[in-house]
Amino acid sequence: MGKFIVQGGGKLKGEIEVMGAKNAALKILAATILSQEECTVKNMPQIEDITRMIDLLIDLGTKVKKTNKKEYRISTKSINKIHLDLGLVQKLRASVMLAGPLLARFKEVTLPHPGGCIIGQRPIDLFLDGFKTLGAKVEENENYYRLSTKKLKGGKIVLPKISVTVTEAMMMTATLAEGETQIKNAAMEPEIPALAEYLNKHGAKIEGAGTSAITIKGVKELGAGDFELIPDRIETGTFVILGLITGNQIKVTKCNPEHLETLWLLLKKAGARFHLGKDYVITYPGGKLKGVNLITHEYPGFATDLQAPFTVLMTQAHGLSLIHETIFEGRLFYTDILNQMGANIIMCDPHRVVINGPSMLYGRRVVSPDLRAGIALVLAALVAEGESQIENIYQIDRGYEKIHERLQKLGAKIKRIDGDE
Ligand code: EPZ
Repeated sequence: MGKFIVQGGGKLKGEIEVMGAKNAALKILAATILSQEECTVKNMPQIEDITRMIDLLIDLGTKVKKTNKKEYRISTKSINKIHLDLGLVQKLRASVMLAGPLLARFKEVTLPHPGGCIIGQRPIDLFLDGFKTLGAKVEENENYYRLSTKKLKGGKIVLPKISVTVTEAMMMTATLAEGETQIKNAAMEPEIPALAEYLNKHGAKIEGAGTSAITIKGVKELGAGDFELIPDRIETGTFVILGLITGNQIKVTKCNPEHLETLWLLLKKAGARFHLGKDYVITYPGGKLKGVNLITHEYPGFATDLQAPFTVLMTQAHGLSLIHETIFEGRLFYTDILNQMGANIIMCDPHRVVINGPSMLYGRRVVSPDLRAGIALVLAALVAEGESQIENIYQIDRGYEKIHERLQKLGAKIKRIDGDE
């Protein structure tokens, strides 16, 4: 149970490099199961969720070689197991992404329920419906699901609600199904065209990824290939907000600003001062921030994963702002912690809060509830007066590579204490 000790108020300066996208990497690692030849993945983020996913692949019999800091050579030819380990699955909801590729290659898989998490229920009904459409039989007992098929056949999958991972799971699984598959009402997050590009580089035939209608023509098998991960857009947005909330000039590098157009729109409306380069963003001090209203929405709308950092920014803005979290029902409770730090936030219902700013924040001992609220608490601690202790930082390690070292390089007064001291 490690913790961060943060002294607020320090001046930050310098550059911070964005890592490879966690939510692209997790799916591409699952997709390596579709090919029996070696796949190389570059720009891999060194974070807990990736370690968990690699542990799952190794548990199935995959050979994983780390050729350098961020490049992995993965061979799934030697997979000899189709039962996903309960302990490993419960540590990582994204483990559900392994089910489709295992079903496509081995015609059978048993999958313990990945369970919900603090931000919301996280059911998998849409996954199971999609697998049935592709010709799988789904059996369920109190502990796990068993998916099996004689042969996967292409079909028309219409998603009743937009789901990122269901879109990705169906796209991957359909690459080895016989015939053509259509996915309608597909999610359009940038990680989806990235996954399609990875699959097409290995021999798949996918069109339309990044739009709401994706077509996959099944192929016999996928071959070898290598792929460089896109930058993490959520890290990018988080670090730009870091620069703005601490009123410093920092440069966020190795990113793709095109993935965050709704964030730039809102920040401009709030009076923030920043410059967008081709693969970098520079923040400037001095903009007097005013409260703006935010509604999260599937891409290209405002990313729900940036809602918490943006909410912390709005506690420093002048006037009222409404934050409407439309995707998850449990993703606003961390605002109680911000109120304990001095913010003035009223929860109207589990999906909406109203912030009255600006508020002076004061350092507190807090516990990180989840990955994105966790990094938001780091931002709050960096702008608060005095010292904060942030516990349960495993949640932050899940998605932000060596974050305290990278923030220290910017001049932040943050240190990490591991273990139970
Ligand atoms: C992905 O989760 C991301 N995770 C999430 O990021 C992100 O917040 C979310 O998309 C929305 O952008 C990964 O990519 C690993 P959804 P996902 O399915 O796909 C409902 C982070 O912090 N639903 O798009 O699980 C679900 O309950 C994480 O990096 C069903 O009803 O989210 C939600 O209300 C958090 N049945 C809605 O769909 C299903 O079978 C959208 O969720 C599946 C989902």
